[in-house]
Amino acid sequence: MKNATVGLAIAALALTLAACGSAPEAAQKAEAAEAPVQKAPTSQISEGNAEAGEKLANTKMGANNQACVECHGSHGNKPNGPDRPKIGGQYRDYIAHALQSYRAGERTNITMDGQAKDLTDEQIADLAEYFGTQQGELSDLSHLTK
Ligand code: HEC
Repeated sequence: MKNATVGLAIAALALTLAACGSAPEAAQKAEAAEAPVQKAPTSQISEGNAEAGEKLANTKMGANNQACVECHGSHGNKPNGPDRPKIGGQYRDYIAHALQSYRAGERTNITMDGQAKDLTDEQIADLAEYFGTQQGELSDLSHLTK
């Protein structure tokens, strides 16, 4: 009788340990299945031509038939309204990515959708190069390391 009780206790302990051992493994498998898929960066625009970008920035175009500088101002620094951002001196990649996103419909704005809709990759590269190389009022912390 005593032996049977000890035997049962050992069997119960073994079952408990077995259950504990498999639980984290199952959780790990579930986690791996739900891991988000990595996306490649969308901003893979090559270097543009600032001169071509300047011409384009001053040309009436897009659904609104307006030039970029009409809204964003000369060199992208003097917007003609409080809802129109300064883009002069903004990072080239940021400008290219914003234009790509409007064009793809990933970012939407009633005005910019029509302006970016028909831009080619080359035009986006040129506009990003032009506005990105203008003196701007944007600042970051790089002056602290100079
Ligand atoms: C009719 C006015 C108008 C014209 C023309 C226009 N824009 Fe814009 N632009 C806007 C407005 C308004 C916004 C802000 C939209 C938003 O909130 O997403 C904007 C946003 C942007 C942004 C994003 C800025 C940021 O900080 O995220 C970029 C880049 C840009 N415009 C570039 C251009 C370029 C290049 C052209 C010419 C091809 C152009 N825009 C023409 C009104 C205009």
